[in-house]
Amino acid sequence: MLDIQKIRDDFPILSEKVNGKPLVYFDNGATSQKPQIVIDAIATYYQEINANIHRGVHTLSQLATDAYEISRVKIQHHINAKFSHEVLFTSGTTHGINLVTNGFASILKPGDEVIVSSLEHHSNIVPWQMLCEKTGATLKVIPMNEDGELIMDAFDALLSEKTKVVTVNHISNALGIINPIKYIIEKAHVVGAAVLIDGAQAVPHLKPDVQDLDCDFYAFSGHKMCGPTGTGILYGKEDWLNKLPPYQGGGEMIKEVTFEKTTYADLPHKFEAGTPNIAGGIVLGTAVDYLNNIGFHNIQKQEEKLLEHATKRLLEIEGLKIYGTGKNKASVVSFNIDGIHPYDIGSIIDKLGIAVRTGHHCAQPIMNFFCIPGTIRASFSFYNTIEEIDIMVEAVKKAKTMLS
Ligand code: ALA
Repeated sequence: MLDIQKIRDDFPILSEKVNGKPLVYFDNGATSQKPQIVIDAIATYYQEINANIHRGVHTLSQLATDAYEISRVKIQHHINAKFSHEVLFTSGTTHGINLVTNGFASILKPGDEVIVSSLEHHSNIVPWQMLCEKTGATLKVIPMNEDGELIMDAFDALLSEKTKVVTVNHISNALGIINPIKYIIEKAHVVGAAVLIDGAQAVPHLKPDVQDLDCDFYAFSGHKMCGPTGTGILYGKEDWLNKLPPYQGGGEMIKEVTFEKTTYADLPHKFEAGTPNIAGGIVLGTAVDYLNNIGFHNIQKQEEKLLEHATKRLLEIEGLKIYGTGKNKASVVSFNIDGIHPYDIGSIIDKLGIAVRTGHHCAQPIMNFFCIPGTIRASFSFYNTIEEIDIMVEAVKKAKTMLS
């Protein structure tokens, strides 16, 4: 069993007051809070080894380079990638996805098809739409049912030899539904399509095994998993990363430059032009260590308890409807109350110190499916408590009374 109070003590912000009330932070889907060890590691980097990497012979540059590359290897092991050069540092999930769509611009042809799912965040829709516009490929969408689950029969029917890429999130940010990605990857590979998994909402809750999943790309952000903002990872299978052209040109991604021709560096540097977020990359490794020390099994147990309690307590409120009622769910509850705009509830409970996200959650097609402007989304982390959920439920009841 986790000692939640002890864990909460690792996160200084959790003892802050907001609007004069103790902070109840339920916007973990947007970004997680950071433990002191992560905050300290950022300062230590700048105080002790700040230098540019892969460039200097001087000692500091080598120390910074070593720390950066050690972090890459740590993340390789965390996601079980076969090689460390399959792990690219990015600024976040969006960067990772755009890197891949940019690469596919030179591969897709008119008549090819890209399959996305109806549960995607805009960051895993818009780059593919842009790619389809550029190449003449067609975008197809896996539909969902009223529980917010993807309809696998419909997915099977969409697949054909025209399918070149399938992309789907591991966990829906708006509803918390966990998608059957192993099935999707297996089926997509039968028709020879590449598969990109958007793991942004999964990595705070579970440890993805990219070799077991057999995905071709897996993109995620560091800031949702206790790491610094502006950090992320794109995993890509070696063959695919060798096949794709570089995303950006610049320093450090080249072997040789002349005005006639440039040859590119080997992986991973081919995709890491310019000075990266060195401190962020190193400290993402610290965050990964922190989460592994707690243990994902323990994280999941705590989050399951929170999800179960929140679902039960919120449903006590008359007129409250939860969106995303499928069986396989992460610790996210998206809901509305009859006749009340989600923004109004969100604003009132914010005054009571409770942070939730309201709106379309950058997933407008999901809101259109349910014919709603948005939802109130409470997304829980392992450092949240049952007591905090009770505080939120009482606050929502109060808001309802005020607004009815
Ligand atoms: N994608 C993040 C969220 O779902 C920002 O809130």
